[in-house]
Amino acid sequence: MNSNPLLNYGMIGLGTMGANLVLNMNDKGYSVAGYDKDQKKVDTLNAEGRQTVRAFNNIGIFTQSLETPRAILLLVPAGPIVDAVINELLPHLQKDDIIIDCGNSHFTDTQSRISALQSKGIHFMGLGVSGGETGARFGPSIMPGGDKQAYERIAPMLKDIAAKADGEPCTAYMGKGAAGHYVKMVHNGIEYALMQLISEAYQLLKKHGEFDNEELAQLFTHWGNGKLQSYLIEITGAIFQQPDENSNGMLVDKINDTAQQKGTGAWTSQDAMNVQAPIPTIDAAVSQRILSSMKVSRVQASEKYKNTHVKIKAAHKEAFAHLLEEALYAAFIITYGQGLAMLGKASAYYKFETEIATVASIWRGGCIIRASLLNEITKAYRQNNSLENILEANEFIPKVKTSQSALRSIVQTAADQHIPAPALYACLAYFDSYTSAWLPANLIQAQRDFFGAHTYERNDKEGIFHTEWNQKIQ
Ligand code: 6PG
Repeated sequence: MNSNPLLNYGMIGLGTMGANLVLNMNDKGYSVAGYDKDQKKVDTLNAEGRQTVRAFNNIGIFTQSLETPRAILLLVPAGPIVDAVINELLPHLQKDDIIIDCGNSHFTDTQSRISALQSKGIHFMGLGVSGGETGARFGPSIMPGGDKQAYERIAPMLKDIAAKADGEPCTAYMGKGAAGHYVKMVHNGIEYALMQLISEAYQLLKKHGEFDNEELAQLFTHWGNGKLQSYLIEITGAIFQQPDENSNGMLVDKINDTAQQKGTGAWTSQDAMNVQAPIPTIDAAVSQRILSSMKVSRVQASEKYKNTHVKIKAAHKEAFAHLLEEALYAAFIITYGQGLAMLGKASAYYKFETEIATVASIWRGGCIIRASLLNEITKAYRQNNSLENILEANEFIPKVKTSQSALRSIVQTAADQHIPAPALYACLAYFDSYTSAWLPANLIQAQRDFFGAHTYERNDKEGIFHTEWNQKIQ
């Protein structure tokens, strides 16, 4: 009898995310081999003392410890490291082995890797994982895409380790090619937008409403139990309650007001232009992170312009908070709407064959953008998977009709008070544009034809037209 039976899955990259996924898989009954160059990480995983988890720092021994055909997950930083790992791994692999990249790789890199490895008989899959360290350990949302046969082989394990929402696993096939990483990218774009919207609400409450941290904590906790119920609202409530260990104040007030980013939000905006999907709220969120990092310029300009805010009367605070809750509700619907509509466009453009209802359903649990709103969004797309935008779903029309007026008055307040709220503005402008039967694009077409003979179409007859405009402007 072999005292060391072959193991079911391999994991390369034993940082916190990788190690937590290994433990999650093992809890669900899968035996796992881990590999990392860093001996400390190997030792830490082995120190868990699990009989069916073995970690190595030798790639040959690691690959030999696996059942064939192998299924090897990668959790290493996106970029050239993924290629380096693949090159290190390749001499040890054989036909039909599967490599599953679980990092936040750019979908075009994933597509190139799929094509390059296909010719060698190796299946390469891009798989998005969301939920941070806790999610990886106890149930993330998992977005796999690529070769359907390879997917079928790993699907039972993914379903076992994923979070559950309404008893359904928060994982499903996202589509062909790099669809898994594409869906994760858009997930992150929505994540950026929701975070920006929440931070704008924070600024309005703090600067105009004069809410202190205790009141903010109470309000966000209250919101987290209402129609805004979501992971990001809940963690925001908890953040306002965290004292600073080095001073008497609260930690949030000690953190620099310059946001960083690893790129997935910007990638979403960049590719939205390719697939011709308007996502102005995500665009605003990316721009605002960049603007926040321009601290020195902001401080200098603030000295020159000296904008001031009028404080709200104490008696009006509650009403203002309620209005803001309604405004955020409208903004959240519009933001999920933009992201999912982008996925619809991208699926057609890249031939992913992504089912939007399925995407919404696997975002209901485990991931950073999970929210009760996604239950209703899932229902709407399940009733009509060809829905172009959630704003058109019958059950959302009355909700948005009511809440958009709160969004409008909050935007007016923000403008009056010199409080930047670009994501809230973008939501309102998107809503007003999407629901306008007529937009002034006829004038843009006329201008294009005037200066460049770019032609235009008419609203009273078919065809392409050009006019020799009467006036010549030098
Ligand atoms: C998730 C997150 C995660 C992302 C971080 C940091 O779904 O678990 O999206 O994948 O890497 O949120 O992103 P930024 O550094 O770009 O803010």
